[in-house]
Amino acid sequence: MACTRRTKTLVSTCVILSGMTNIVCLLYVGWVTNYIANIYIKVPMPLPERKLEGDKRGDTLRIMERLDRLENVVNQHIQETPGRGEESQADKSFSDSSLFAHWGQDLSPENRRVALKMFQYYGYNGYLSDRLSLDRPTSDLRPEGCRNLTYPLNLPQVSIVFIFVNEALSVLLRSIHSAINRTPSHLLKEIILVDDNSSNDELKEKLQDFVSETNSQHPGFIKMVRHAKQEGLIRSRVSGWRAATAPVVALFDAHVEFNVGWAEPILQRIQEDRTRIISPSFDNIKYDTFEIDEYPLSAQGFDWELWCRYLNPPKSWWHKDNKTAPIQSPALIGCFVVDRLYFEEIGLLDEGMEVYGGENVELGIRSSSTTGGSTTGGTILLRDR
Ligand SMILES: *[C@@H]1O[C@H](CO)[C@@H](O)[C@H](O)[C@H]1NC(C)=O
Ligand SMILES: *[C@@H]1O[C@H](CO)[C@@H](O)[C@H](O)[C@H]1NC(C)=O
Ligand SMILES: *[C@@H]1O[C@H](CO)[C@@H](O)[C@H](O)[C@H]1NC(C)=O
Repeated sequence: MACTRRTKTLVSTCVILSGMTNIVCLLYVGWVTNYIANIYIKVPMPLPERKLEGDKRGDTLRIMERLDRLENVVNQHIQETPGRGEESQADKSFSDSSLFAHWGQDLSPENRRVALKMFQYYGYNGYLSDRLSLDRPTSDLRPEGCRNLTYPLNLPQVSIVFIFVNEALSVLLRSIHSAINRTPSHLLKEIILVDDNSSNDELKEKLQDFVSETNSQHPGFIKMVRHAKQEGLIRSRVSGWRAATAPVVALFDAHVEFNVGWAEPILQRIQEDRTRIISPSFDNIKYDTFEIDEYPLSAQGFDWELWCRYLNPPKSWWHKDNKTAPIQSPALIGCFVVDRLYFEEIGLLDEGMEVYGGENVELGIRSSSTTGGSTTGGTILLRDR
């Protein structure tokens, strides 16, 4: 929905993983690390030569150019394949690493080494993340007009599910903090953390301490689900859904930051029609500097390879000339919000899926009324390798 510019996320292109038919959207790149050995890169599509119909201001071209640039950045980053070699390679990537292209020039050699190691482990700048506030401000990137909309007071409550494996603790905590800070408290019933068998020690005691501390003030507010073996993205989401009790469930990666007003437009649309599955519009948290890179509003879909793509919004949306209107999409890239019981009625997600990508299209088929694209507020951290 156009007013749900909620989520800044860590990645944003699609990457095909060899040996699998799965598709990775930036949103998910974190997962890739843990399941995949080899990556090959999708060749970016050539830009269309003309403006698409229904687009008076060349917005389409701008959207595509930006997304294309973004893909190139991600691809370049992935080609470095950090962390896969021996020491000598690590030394080489030390000077070459894209981590230091726009950041960290003034770090001491020792700190650069530490930062690079963390980058190789997490796929994003964990060193910087550890030094940023968990409650950092983000600018309100909602489209014009969203701030003027009002919402009913009796919206349904939501359970937010974060799934992760070996996420940097500070990145996970920032996701949780922003969810708490930027969701009206009467609408946020609980937060569910699904740890898909992380091995990182940070995510054990320290995370448990945070959960216990929070729950001592708000009993039962954070629920922890830990997998005794790695189950993958899809079964992790379903585990989170099983633990949820609010009427609406929001399934998110754990490298996001919510923005103001992200929840209300989504909950309103689900309240109006429970068969809607909603994805907010995402901006990008840059993997190296953690700056927020605003994304154009777009629909979400897939190409002939079932590869996830951001799409130019349909003509009918342009004709409304209303940037706050939701954009109807044939599929969903990544995180989404759904009526808890409706999700069960349509069969959840196929728990036979091992990684991800397939569910984007699957959900579009299961539900005839998925809505993607823009609503207000968040960011995702760009993460890959
Ligand atoms: C939003 O409301 C303000 C104050 O009422 C008004 O000045 C402004 O024009 C409105 N903006 C839009 C896009 O409707
Ligand atoms: C992760 O999985 C392994 C085996 O698959 C298991 O031995 C280990 O205890 C699990 N770790 C956690 C934290 O559950
Ligand atoms: C724009 O779209 C929003 C959200 O659907 C709606 O509430 C609003 O009334 C629309 N504005 C106009 C001028 O049509």
